[in-house]
Amino acid sequence: MPEPLIAVLASGRGSNLEALLGAERSGRLGGRIGLVIGNRPGARCLEVARDAARQTLLIDHRQFDQREAFDAALARAIDASAARWIVLAGFMRRLTASFVRRYRGRLINIHPSLLPDFPGLDTHRRVLEAGHREHGASVHFVTEALDAGPVIAEARLTVRPGDDAASLAGRVLELEHLLYPRVVAWCVAGRVTLDGARASFDGQPLPVRGIVFERSGERLVRVSAG
Ligand code: GRF
Repeated sequence: MPEPLIAVLASGRGSNLEALLGAERSGRLGGRIGLVIGNRPGARCLEVARDAARQTLLIDHRQFDQREAFDAALARAIDASAARWIVLAGFMRRLTASFVRRYRGRLINIHPSLLPDFPGLDTHRRVLEAGHREHGASVHFVTEALDAGPVIAEARLTVRPGDDAASLAGRVLELEHLLYPRVVAWCVAGRVTLDGARASFDGQPLPVRGIVFERSGERLVRVSAG
């Protein structure tokens, strides 16, 4: 049987893509990243993909008058690749409802906050302003509402006295690099499904924050199912 194929959509630095490629190389992903699509010319994520000898496509959103046309071009490329999972890794474009519906249950995203808290941009600054003591990253199914799809897993950290947005961003990104490969591997293995409005793990519906992890050294430790 061919390895399940993954398409990654990215816009910028591509560090999550690198983490996923690293997991693939070490056999932890259980699937192959067959296609990387970027939407910004010159973005580092495209170099990362090319360096890893992956099929790499630039679909520049500025070449399209309408979101629907841009998303249709994305969908053509994804469908031609036969990817089973579509993994957003710092993809900074809002996707249309019809695109999201087309890939329902196969489209996941990583977001730098503990969803459902702080959807949208600028999460680290907003967490500090709100005085929250916990922060982290979430992996969730993408549905029509922005950053509001069912959460599969979160990795959390404690905000330290002296933290600023940059220090938080750095520590959250390290969590992302541990969390995303793990969740993508579960998806590829068929352990994660989207059932109605909930994500399920091994057939069991997950609570609103999914499976929760904390970091211990270079590893994530599961602290609860929700
Ligand atoms: C990450 O913080 C991710 O959570 C957010 O965009 C950033 C992407 O970083 N969606 P990179 O391009 O993977 O380095």
